[in-house]
Amino acid sequence: MTTDVDVTERTPLVALTDIGKRYGNVRALEGVCLDVHAGDVTCVLGDNGAGKSTLIKIVAGLHRHDTGSFRIEGEEVRLSSPREALDRGIATVYQDLAVVSLMPVWRNFFLGSEPRKGAGPFKRLDVDFMRRTTREQLLRMGIDLRDVDQPIGTLSGGERQCVAIARAVYFGAKVLVLDEPTAALGVKQSGVVLKYVAAARDEGLGVVFITHNPHHAYLVGDRFVLLKRGTMAGSHTRDEITLEELTSQMAGGDELDDLRHELENRAPAGARG
Ligand SMILES: Nc1ncnc2c1ncn2[C@@H]1O[C@H](COP(=O)(O)OP(=O)(O)O)[C@@H](O)[C@H]1O
Ligand SMILES: [Mg+2]
Repeated sequence: MTTDVDVTERTPLVALTDIGKRYGNVRALEGVCLDVHAGDVTCVLGDNGAGKSTLIKIVAGLHRHDTGSFRIEGEEVRLSSPREALDRGIATVYQDLAVVSLMPVWRNFFLGSEPRKGAGPFKRLDVDFMRRTTREQLLRMGIDLRDVDQPIGTLSGGERQCVAIARAVYFGAKVLVLDEPTAALGVKQSGVVLKYVAAARDEGLGVVFITHNPHHAYLVGDRFVLLKRGTMAGSHTRDEITLEELTSQMAGGDELDDLRHELENRAPAGARG
């Protein structure tokens, strides 16, 4: 009995094994592995062009992998659309959030899944319910918006990421994928987003957090996957790696040493011709 439970608990929500993907002649991914567990934050780190977005587009149902295996709760899948991913509980928040900026926050929260009341020709949007629920759900995630009627475009980039996270939680996502949610944000706003990443994790979601910032990753991450030019450059659980090691691997430790050497050997600015 107990062993059955253990096995179920260890089956990842999402398991990518030896994933390969080409765009024509460009090899975007080769031999990449990624496990996502409930209540864990899995960070995907890598420089520009490392293949991070390609990897999460496969998870999100936007692209299909060429080789390897993609399993959702143990079942082999080939997703054909983002809708299919969403139906299986995988919600993705893209960097350039597809929000209609003049829409009130509550309208955006329910976009595409609006509840209606009444019947037949009298059926209409349940605006009161949407307003109330949006406010409640944001509060539950610790976001206290004074006015859910304000246009979503008036929120800061960080707040918009947070609304998207709260929305995924409310609509029952099991896996939440965030593509560089802190890339364009300042220190304070990044902190706010990281708090909601932790809140989603505490709700039991499996979070995939894409970033090129090892400091942000280490603040919330349980496991770390490093990509380099489309291949695996490392995969570690939190107790296997320190922030210093993660930072050094991200910066390409050796390359950075070479660069330091080169810069130190240059003549000081004042001594130059
Ligand atoms: N739609 C596409 N068509 C052709 N090449 C692409 C496409 N998307 C990404 N690539 C290429 O695949 C590689 C990985 O890109 P990407 O996954 O966007 O990396 P990252 O998100 O880590 O910056 C890059 O060389 C990029 O130019
Ligand atoms: Mg990217």
